[in-house]
Amino acid sequence: RAKLNQQINRELRLRTGAENLYRYQCVLILKSDVRKNFIAKEFVLVTEASSTQRQHIVSVPMIPLGLKETKEIDMTVPLQDFISEHYGEDASLYLNEIRDFMELRQAMRTPSRNETGQELLMEYYNQLYFLDQRFFSPHRSLGIHFHWYDSLTGVPSVQRELAFEKGSVLFNIGSLYTQIGARQDRSTLTGIQSAIDAFQRAAGVFLYLQENFSHAPSLDMSSPALSILVRLMVAQVQECVCEKVIINMQDNNMNVLLQAAKEAARVSDVYSLVLQAMSVPLLKDYVPFSWISMVQVKTHHFRALAHYYTAAALCDSSGELLNVSSVRRSGGPAAVLAF
Ligand SMILES: *[C@@H]1O[C@H](CO)[C@@H](O)[C@H](O)[C@H]1NC(C)=O
Ligand SMILES: *[C@@H]1O[C@H](CO)[C@@H](O)[C@H](O)[C@H]1NC(C)=O
Ligand SMILES: *[C@@H]1O[C@H](CO)[C@@H](O)[C@H](O)[C@H]1NC(C)=O
Repeated sequence: RAKLNQQINRELRLRTGAENLYRYQCVLILKSDVRKNFIAKEFVLVTEASSTQRQHIVSVPMIPLGLKETKEIDMTVPLQDFISEHYGEDASLYLNEIRDFMELRQAMRTPSRNETGQELLMEYYNQLYFLDQRFFSPHRSLGIHFHWYDSLTGVPSVQRELAFEKGSVLFNIGSLYTQIGARQDRSTLTGIQSAIDAFQRAAGVFLYLQENFSHAPSLDMSSPALSILVRLMVAQVQECVCEKVIINMQDNNMNVLLQAAKEAARVSDVYSLVLQAMSVPLLKDYVPFSWISMVQVKTHHFRALAHYYTAAALCDSSGELLNVSSVRRSGGPAAVLAF
């Protein structure tokens, strides 16, 4: 099961990665063809009316995470035993509640990939809090084993600690946010805002996991892996912020263009940090190749975009020659200096 899972996950990831890259490259190729013929025209466009700005936005795919899978478990007997032994009550009185709880667990294994699924995961997570308070004591184990598969490799892990179950559910809450974020239509302001919101929440969840669940047995929940995920989500937020600035450009005076250049340079910087974090020995072979490629492409793409907007700013619509020393003083982007 584990081996198959791993293989299926790998194939799926390869396919998604390939599709994303293919789509992305098509856009790039399209753009570069257009560019060859119309480089001058495009340059005029960027310094022209605001309504044309939208045409310059390439909606680049974002990286979502897969949900961790888990094996079905039946806690009915252990819970009933605990009720009669520890609380001295007739366990059969609680059969319906236990059944509801087991159904909730079953349902949250395959949440719908939207807010409804998110609520389901939260509901289960909240129940785990009560379960932890009333049924798990350090002195007596319920003998329940929690099986969860690694989100990236499908490698199984087992632990008896309820904390593993809690952490894994939290992980899925974060993953689901990444999926919701990646699915937004970022050609509109509301779409960009929703994506920012979702990626920020995902980053928050992974950070919380890193701080509070540091003893999980699986690699995707290890501190270095979570640190990558946090950085990746922060980078994706930054990318959306940059897109927001670009989509919001009303006119093309020098300051606006420099602002766009600055944001693009920042995106490139955060992605290069992600790339560094992904390149450490333990994780290099663990992180999907398609992620590394995507992060690499984005580092260069946004660096290029920064240069592009800087160039456009230098050819400010006023047509005046730019006084570089004044740009430096006004805190222009690093790209200006490189330029
Ligand atoms: C989420 O998706 C499920 C099925 O895919 C659907 O029944 C439900 O209404 C959706 N919820 C929201 C909030 O869109
Ligand atoms: C999680 O970890 C943070 C930082 O260590 C800490 O401030 C916070 O209280 C922890 N939360 C819980 C619920 O333990
Ligand atoms: C450029 O700006 C600086 C500072 O504002 C000024 O001293 C300098 O004379 C300007 N140079 C030109 C060529 O306008």
